[in-house]
Amino acid sequence: MTERAEPAAAADSAVDPALLPKAQEIAREAGARLREFYAQGVETEYKGDVDLVTVADRTVEKLIRTRLAEAFPDHGIYGEEGTRDRMEGAFRWYVDPLDGTTNFAHGFPQFCVSMGLEHRPADLTDGCDGTLVAGVIYDPLRDEIFTAERGGGARLNGKPIHVSRTAHLGEALLATGFPSRKRHTSPNIHYYHEFTLRSHGVRRAGSAALDLAYVACGRLDAFWEFNLNPWDTAAGLLLIEESGGRITDFAGKPYRLDSRETLASNGPLHDELLGLFADLLAGRDLAPIPTPQEYARRRAELREKQ
Ligand code: IPD
Ligand code: CA
Ligand code: CA
Repeated sequence: MTERAEPAAAADSAVDPALLPKAQEIAREAGARLREFYAQGVETEYKGDVDLVTVADRTVEKLIRTRLAEAFPDHGIYGEEGTRDRMEGAFRWYVDPLDGTTNFAHGFPQFCVSMGLEHRPADLTDGCDGTLVAGVIYDPLRDEIFTAERGGGARLNGKPIHVSRTAHLGEALLATGFPSRKRHTSPNIHYYHEFTLRSHGVRRAGSAALDLAYVACGRLDAFWEFNLNPWDTAAGLLLIEESGGRITDFAGKPYRLDSRETLASNGPLHDELLGLFADLLAGRDLAPIPTPQEYARRRAELREKQ
């Protein structure tokens, strides 16, 4: 899962036209199960410090695993909750049964099912990504299904979608996410601050797959995050590419499924965003954030004057 295979590999990666409808059916069944769990409420367990998991994550991964194996017995499955089936297969699904677990556990209505399919030809060099050929992201609460097929465009509930045309960061609406693992070591708050000052705002809604789908359909102009995993990004990556957007790491290098940096945009904004990432990484033009103590001092001064 490092470098991308050349497009030559795409020639024999064409998928059966019945595949995407079947994948949508599975995502819808999985989403319906999530809706039931959401309505009844579930106990929260901890995988780590604030890394949550629920019975819904595990049950729905099991459901997707069973349905994918019934429909596509040769396909591999790589799921967030531990599924590693047929990893040597020519096709591999990256599955996040519930993207947005923290939202789900708190009753915050923003989460989805995400399934992306990679073609991995037999002659794929070790350490290379194959070609993403299909992706489905399903939001069960809004009943919105985002789909993409390599070369076939991207759709929302069957209608073609396209990224936005916003050309300047100053007019853009952005999104990001913060990791639940090793959060003390994440520098993202600095990026959040700088991008907030330079745009119409930065949303942090808690589902990376939906953030990517929202860039694909123009609700957001760009999205970035550190340390996402292939199950978070596989379907969204194809949606971005098929809706006319661009996705790279923070230095503009081609995106890989194991990239530790994700920058997705509508395309026209990408170079401006990369320039800002370069400045931030070099420590140029940073806007100082007032400390709470500075704020307290100013507040006290104001009160004295009143
Ligand atoms: C998380 C969500 C969140 C992102 C985290 C992910 P999960 O996935 O996508 O938006 O900020 O980095 O881990 O754990 O809810 O599947
Ligand atoms: Ca996820
Ligand atoms: Ca998940």
